[in-house]
Amino acid sequence: MNIAIVGTGYVGLVTGTCFAETGANVICVDTNKEKIEALKKGVIPIYEPGLEDMVLRNTKAGRLRFTTSLEECLDEVSIVFSAVGTPPNEDGSADLQYVLNVARTIGACMNKYVLVVTKSTVPVGTAKKVKAVIQEELACRGVSVDFDVASNPEFLKEGNAISDFMTPDRVVVGVESQRAKELMTKLYRPFLLNNFRVIFMDIPSAEMTKYAANSMLATRISFMNDIANLCELVGADVNMVRAGIGSDTRIGRKFLYPGCGYGGSCFPKDVKALIKTAEEHGYTMRVLKMVEEVNEAQKDILFRKLSAFYEGNLKGKVIALWGLAFKPETDDMREAPALVLIEKLKAAGCVIRAYDPAAMDEARRRVGDSIYYARDMYDALLDADALLMVTEWKEFRLPAWGVIKKTMNRPVIFDGRNIYDAEELKELDIVYHCIGK
Ligand code: UDX
Repeated sequence: MNIAIVGTGYVGLVTGTCFAETGANVICVDTNKEKIEALKKGVIPIYEPGLEDMVLRNTKAGRLRFTTSLEECLDEVSIVFSAVGTPPNEDGSADLQYVLNVARTIGACMNKYVLVVTKSTVPVGTAKKVKAVIQEELACRGVSVDFDVASNPEFLKEGNAISDFMTPDRVVVGVESQRAKELMTKLYRPFLLNNFRVIFMDIPSAEMTKYAANSMLATRISFMNDIANLCELVGADVNMVRAGIGSDTRIGRKFLYPGCGYGGSCFPKDVKALIKTAEEHGYTMRVLKMVEEVNEAQKDILFRKLSAFYEGNLKGKVIALWGLAFKPETDDMREAPALVLIEKLKAAGCVIRAYDPAAMDEARRRVGDSIYYARDMYDALLDADALLMVTEWKEFRLPAWGVIKKTMNRPVIFDGRNIYDAEELKELDIVYHCIGK
């Protein structure tokens, strides 16, 4: 099976590499020359556990190649996956220019049947647009070549991308022809050994599934953040409430963790895009609007707690931040709560000492040198008046409390991810505040 994957971002690179791992011949395409040159040398542009080894292994085996020219590989492949970016426009809608450019190139250069699969998260109706653009280009050339479009949204999580792709809960595929269905069945057959299901459906439903899934997960998180905030007011413990409701199989245990807000490239963008799609159809997504509002407020909850603790006198206070990425096991800082906190702390006149196991370079790029980038987690604590625990990396979970007490000016911890034990810290004379308790 010969396939091309256009876009070597997060989704494209993981998808291409994982298909190669199951034996397919994969060509990864990107217009960014430097990225492709680097990938050819085995240099991976993102931080994702396990990906580098897999890229090297499959490149060596000759199943994974990299190119800047989609035109040149079209004659070789039966499926083209489009995994290019769909960044948000200013109004929250998804910018489809990259997706439609890929379609244009395909229409302009294809000489034989190809199945064009959209893997990027795109609004309902995009496959139709992709089809129309390809038809337009073929008509311009005055040729008639058979092709199909399909939708195959990706559900992988950053930091866990390889295992999410190799053993997914389900694969969703939207098709409108038997030929497309057969090709996709064949491509995903190796994964069937892992006992998962390919769910075939019509294309608009597949496109909608991705937005509905991410919106539901974002809703759970905002709902739990609201519950956590109320728990604090009524003297309840959200950890107990979470355990209590999560054991109801209708609710389930996952994605019920309160914290300092969800971030990343998907939840914020997809929630906004779905609200926008609804508006375009004259409908208001009332629940989702509130989901967003709750999340925005939650991103500065640690700042509000800190400010209340120091009664608004934050000028000159040294504040340590542990965790800058939007979640552990990634260097991604898109929509990260840490960015909101840094802005608030800076505006209040705090001195910021930050540490993250993977996102230091990314933070320097985004935040510049207005904050101190610590050498390690304990260096961040030097003379600190408070520690804000923002991202629950494993190495933060069992810190040396003795060192913390010695290093900080005042041992005060605001835990945005509820990873520490309140009783233990009380015994150690460390002031401890968490979420929802
Ligand atoms: C998400 C979806 O999980 C994935 O299926 C989709 O394809 C892309 O979007 P990702 O953004 O990589 O994946 O991260 P995820 O692990 O889902 O976390 C998203 C955010 O929610 C993080 O900021 C995380 O800290 C937060 N979160 C998650 C919570 O606050 N509470 C939870 O219980 C779970």
